[in-house]
Amino acid sequence: MDEAVPVRFTQDAEWWRSAVIYQVYVRSFADGDDDGIGDLRGVRERLPYLAELGVDALWFNPWYPSPFADGGYDIVDYRSIHPWFGSLEDAEALIAEARELSIRTIIDVVPNHISDQHPWFQEALAAGPGAPARERFWFHPGKGEDGATIPTRWVSSFQGSTWTRTTTAEGTPGEWYLHLFTPEQPDLNWNHPDVRREHEEILRFWFDRGVAGVRIDSAALLVKDPELLEVGESADGSHPIQDRDELHDIYRSWRSVADGYPEPRVLVGEIWLDDVDRFAAYLRPDELHTAFNFDFMTRPYLAASLRESIDRTLRAHAPVSAPSTWVLSNHDVTRPVTRYGREKSGFAFLDKRFGTPTDLALGTRRARAMSLVVAALPGCLYIYQGDELGLPEVEDLPLERIEDPMHYRSGGVDPGRDGCRVPLPWSGGLPPYGFSELAEPWLPQPDDWGSRTVAAQASDPHSMLALYRRTLAARRSSDALRHGDFAWLTGFSADVLAFRRGDDMVCILNMGETPVPLPAGDVVIASGPLSDDLLPRDTAVWLQTASAPVDAENQG
Ligand code: GLC
Repeated sequence: MDEAVPVRFTQDAEWWRSAVIYQVYVRSFADGDDDGIGDLRGVRERLPYLAELGVDALWFNPWYPSPFADGGYDIVDYRSIHPWFGSLEDAEALIAEARELSIRTIIDVVPNHISDQHPWFQEALAAGPGAPARERFWFHPGKGEDGATIPTRWVSSFQGSTWTRTTTAEGTPGEWYLHLFTPEQPDLNWNHPDVRREHEEILRFWFDRGVAGVRIDSAALLVKDPELLEVGESADGSHPIQDRDELHDIYRSWRSVADGYPEPRVLVGEIWLDDVDRFAAYLRPDELHTAFNFDFMTRPYLAASLRESIDRTLRAHAPVSAPSTWVLSNHDVTRPVTRYGREKSGFAFLDKRFGTPTDLALGTRRARAMSLVVAALPGCLYIYQGDELGLPEVEDLPLERIEDPMHYRSGGVDPGRDGCRVPLPWSGGLPPYGFSELAEPWLPQPDDWGSRTVAAQASDPHSMLALYRRTLAARRSSDALRHGDFAWLTGFSADVLAFRRGDDMVCILNMGETPVPLPAGDVVIASGPLSDDLLPRDTAVWLQTASAPVDAENQG
């Protein structure tokens, strides 16, 4: 399929090192058939919007057939498209049309678990204890005489237990099966050759259709301790369900699949690990290309913390020669304009609560400034749909409309993730804001989003959308920003982040009260108004300087 690549498409095999990647949550992007649910036709119709925004690639959240017990991360068939979203032909057309616009496609693969409706799991349930079909999963007898005690006390990423007990054909309690997420998402056994083979074939299936890469869901969780030890019980300090050494072999094998294509395909890991060196080990040259930098995403809006995160990120990536990624949000976390408008501006899943006081005007100023910072840092940039419109988290969804299992499994304490998954506003003054024509969107949109639509923002030079468009255009045309080295600038107070890229590009964010005098240079872009060459609080600027600024501490 590579021969068919259009001429205009950049052939740079290293494109993923500095790409801007836009995350499409299909269900909420644009509804092409007016049933209230976003779909591939909707994305195809809006490709010109994405091209104008200036992105290099799209990452699609899972688009496969699924009962949607967890937003589509419970897959029934990895080689087809959910009927809500369209057909395989629509996906192929979308991939090809995007390539015509020089936009690559990355899809989500979910190797840790499948849907409980997947034929493999249904077969395993029907086959009963001891059957080979159960070997593809983690079926286990319970502890105690009646087997009523769960096999381990491992805690689910969604809170609560990780085991569910089955019922035998006779209607009596049977074996338990493992699920790190919901019971509708049974974990696969990665020691089983079928599991490994199947997933490599899935990769080839999509790579053969022109997909440029995959985002690997829950990438550090696939392998489990077969001894079923509890956390902290192993002699070698290994964790029973996270970051196990055997994972690296799996990804080496995936890498050879990806490298087998004339234009090598890209592997992006969803890896939540505190230990930055263990994190970077996945990015060795024969493993994954990149992984999401969640450390930076979860930091509070504080200069010292962000500076420390940038340092440790760049330090950890350098020895493995992998680019860092910069991510302000995704479909799992609170929207930046909301988060940065709070007293606790960092992100932690367990901290989410209804009714947290938020100053949206402040959060928006800060999110604008942070968008300039991340776009100026070396590496790859991710933008979650709607962040370019400055959409806030929707926090007053009617409770009965919430779908996210995180909400239910927390006993209703955690609002869940639907608040960042509300359908995008495209035009008009009232819901559905051009998302669908007449149909009611699957999640209700706020009544006050008229000024946040694409149409309203496209004609306003001060809008978030205008800022994103200018920022991405400037990044694209600057060699320094795409390829230049990075160094902090000294001579600024502790609440200012100031760094240069290459010889002539400088980014400064003032997080302190006192306005900061701007060094000599031309303002390329500013996140807010400047006054008399002073950079006000919560404002960031890019400056083009005549030569390398003095005082740069080169960090290589
Ligand atoms: C990842 C996804 C999240 C999903 C979970 C289970 O963290 O980003 O949305 O719920 O995996 O698949």
